[in-house]
Amino acid sequence: MSRIAYVNGRYLPFAEATVHVEDRGYQFSDGVYEVCEVKGGHLVDEPMHMRRLQRSLGELKIAMPMSLAALRVVLRETVRRNRVCDGLVYLQVSRGVARRDHAFPATGTAPSVVVTARSADRTAAERVAAAGIAVITVPENRWDRVDIKAIALLPNVLAKQAAKDQGAKEAWFVGKDGYVTEGSSSNAWIISRDGKVITRPADHGILRGITRTVLLKVLKSQGLELEERPFTVEEAYAAREAFVTSASQVVMPVVQIDGRPIGNGAPGLVATALRQDFHQHSELV
Ligand code: PDD
Repeated sequence: MSRIAYVNGRYLPFAEATVHVEDRGYQFSDGVYEVCEVKGGHLVDEPMHMRRLQRSLGELKIAMPMSLAALRVVLRETVRRNRVCDGLVYLQVSRGVARRDHAFPATGTAPSVVVTARSADRTAAERVAAAGIAVITVPENRWDRVDIKAIALLPNVLAKQAAKDQGAKEAWFVGKDGYVTEGSSSNAWIISRDGKVITRPADHGILRGITRTVLLKVLKSQGLELEERPFTVEEAYAAREAFVTSASQVVMPVVQIDGRPIGNGAPGLVATALRQDFHQHSELV
């Protein structure tokens, strides 16, 4: 079955799913995106993803490309046409097509919209989670508006490749102050020796992950103590557990950072329990 993409009003086979060479997303990375998990054919926490999309668009002064209701239909239709039961749906909105000029195009230029969906192998994901992943640390070199889910991801791309080159699955950015900000495509968490769950506040320096927001509820339900504060790499090395969160990985145990085993070097009990419980607290729509 050929994959289908939604591109500016049409559902097209991938081979025909193209954007204009002067699309500002292509030329300037002038756009935003969302990635939403699909579980049992339902979108996971879609309302929160849509709210974050609207915020990202607003921060960049890009118009909402269509009504929220229409956008929700497009997301579902793309999932349906690709027969995705478990997987991901990707949505990208750029500032549209215009003659190349850094400044914004004329008011009224239509934003471009692309939606794709793909299936994920749940069994393989569970296998990865049962083994845990290795993380490396890299210097933070991103701009200071990483709270916007912009498609400009070059530092994240380079960080992820550095991780891959070293046999790891994720890279954690570390600021000049020695504090971890977040992963190249995930939020970073540790659990201290005395059982406190620590993650950086989402007001500055990180993307406010939807998985992160929902996990705060899971923590509460499990009676875990949360400390929303930055943590250093040294603290992470000495942590009892570590994990990352994202729509694509949900809660993923980290068993190694910069080659050092975390805790006993196996996925932590708390991270594993959080992963198991996560979808009881997420909204399937
Ligand atoms: N990444 N931080 C960054 C830099 C991210 O790119 C992501 C998500 C997150 C976690 O956000 P959420 O829980 O809402 O997925 C944090 C997506 C999945 C991606 O780029 O594929």
